[in-house]
Amino acid sequence: MTLINDTDKVALSARNVSWDWTGLPMHYVDGNPFATHYCNGMNMLLPEGEVFFVDVFSKALPLIVDEAVREDVIGFIGQEATHSSSHQSLLDHLQQQGLRVEPYLDQVRWFFRQLFGDRNFTGRRKQAWLLERVAIVAALEHFTSYLGNWGLNARGWDHTIEPRVLDLFRWHLAEEVEHRHVAYELYTHLDGRYWRRVRAWFLAAPTLAILWIRGIRYLMSVDPELADHDRRIRFRDVRSAWRRGLMPSPASLAAMFVEYLRPSYHPSRYGSTSQAVAYLASSPAARAAAH
Ligand SMILES: [Fe+2]
Ligand SMILES: [Fe+2]
Repeated sequence: MTLINDTDKVALSARNVSWDWTGLPMHYVDGNPFATHYCNGMNMLLPEGEVFFVDVFSKALPLIVDEAVREDVIGFIGQEATHSSSHQSLLDHLQQQGLRVEPYLDQVRWFFRQLFGDRNFTGRRKQAWLLERVAIVAALEHFTSYLGNWGLNARGWDHTIEPRVLDLFRWHLAEEVEHRHVAYELYTHLDGRYWRRVRAWFLAAPTLAILWIRGIRYLMSVDPELADHDRRIRFRDVRSAWRRGLMPSPASLAAMFVEYLRPSYHPSRYGSTSQAVAYLASSPAARAAAH
């Protein structure tokens, strides 16, 4: 993984992108069911997860006293809302093709709304719960900025993922790199305590991993194009996907996990704003949205 210290920031704005999924094959990653559902596992977490990000950051807006932070947070909210609806459009298509994503999406919805939603708190407890959730968003954004940098540089994706899906992923990941500093800086602005940040990471990272793995297993179990003997996740399929560069390696994920524990952590260490902006200038969907 390349760590590039590129602290350049750009004004954040949502791009009005869309994709027509007509004719998309069920196994859009090189005809490979496991690699496809690995991607779909994240696809299923994003729409609801990003609604959660938008909700928390909208509630944090009145607490912000720095104009630059406020502007970034408003740009962040616009981008995450568009990410959410774009991934939902792919999920809607897959559901129409017979992949029953809705039962799992219901679980994800319950998770974010019941567990991480508003509670009947008032006063200081209400504020503390909001800060806790800002810390959780910042922790999850550490993961998305890591994935953004990884995905923009994943040469294994170049000729294996169906071009429209690849553009959806890379457009999203480029915007993750573009706004990677926002959640961390909002957290630093509102609270910034190391232990709260680390506690949020110890909560967010395993939860994300469990939900993602459960999602992959669920999709393998309901995939209408898979024979029953192909529904298990086999270690050799996972290893082959790592080796082909279709997903991050365990060593890279472990390094990413440890990185967030550094007291001197800053998200600018992950990824390059200029690389993200260059991708967005060439993305078919972002270009179409600009005209
Ligand atoms: Fe996003
Ligand atoms: Fe993000």
